[in-house]
Amino acid sequence: MLRSSTGYISGQQISTEFGITRAAIWKHIRDLRKTGYIIDAIPNKGYHLASSPDMLFEEEIHLFLSTRTIGEKIIFHREIDSTNNVAMLLASDGTPHGTVVTSDSQTGGRGRRGREWFSPPGCNLYMSVILRPSVSPVEASQIPVISVIAAVRALEHLNTGLDFQIKWPNDILCRGKKVCGILCEMKSDTDQIQHVVVGIGINVNVTSMHPCISDIATSLKMETDQEYSRTRLSASLLEELEIIYLDWLQERNLKKYMEEWERYSLLIGRNVRIETPSETITGIATRLSEEGALMLKLSSGALRKVYAGDAHIANHR
Ligand code: BTN
Repeated sequence: MLRSSTGYISGQQISTEFGITRAAIWKHIRDLRKTGYIIDAIPNKGYHLASSPDMLFEEEIHLFLSTRTIGEKIIFHREIDSTNNVAMLLASDGTPHGTVVTSDSQTGGRGRRGREWFSPPGCNLYMSVILRPSVSPVEASQIPVISVIAAVRALEHLNTGLDFQIKWPNDILCRGKKVCGILCEMKSDTDQIQHVVVGIGINVNVTSMHPCISDIATSLKMETDQEYSRTRLSASLLEELEIIYLDWLQERNLKKYMEEWERYSLLIGRNVRIETPSETITGIATRLSEEGALMLKLSSGALRKVYAGDAHIANHR
């Protein structure tokens, strides 16, 4: 009610609308203020919502969201070890497709290959989306690619004026430093996925990075000196993810997205070194395969598909 009105709303109006006492209204107002809503109260005039917090609450994200299933339910935490941990547990308990877990901060934010994800409170985006596609584990390995495209589109919608690059498999860089990382985890049977959790971290408004990563990571605020709405960014990310996901489910290949992915790709045409747990492969990155592998032209001239690993630019071509 407060949001839909530009002026003041009397306690009487609220009381009639919800069938609750003035004292109960006052308690709700107090709770809302505690969570960061600024509500003016003037005797004989009523209440007025002066501002809302930029927190990843379901109610706030829903204001900008018109998806069908992704984000229909959003579970917010002020602090959690890792939104991916919570989402994986919820998914194992049968939580429906599209459920999203967000947190204002993470005490054990996780990156790929066992790395930590710097997750301070009040500034960034940490969210995990539960997906339940009826696809094989091999097909599900394309989900990181569609997720990174959704994230790059959402970043573009912010009109930051920045250029973004995708570093295979699913990092987003800005001026050579990482602003977004994606950690996809899945549970599957031999030939069928049970669920996938897409965990997305975006450095939005943080003003300084942890010293250990300050030369390799940055935030939108650090690059532009401007703050961005985390709630709008989350909504736009979920919108884009749903559009691409539904489309991909029909096709089950990346044909439609390869051109867009390659346009943003940092590695295509460059001499790269890919480190996998078992080997290091070097070659020129030629393109993305339809299943999301990076195609490398080796010095022998042979083509090699690489499905996972850490990529580094070896030198310029
Ligand atoms: C990476 O670049 O290595 C992936 C980083 C993924 C970070 C996000 S933040 C939300 C979700 N919860 C986690 O613990 N990790 C992902």
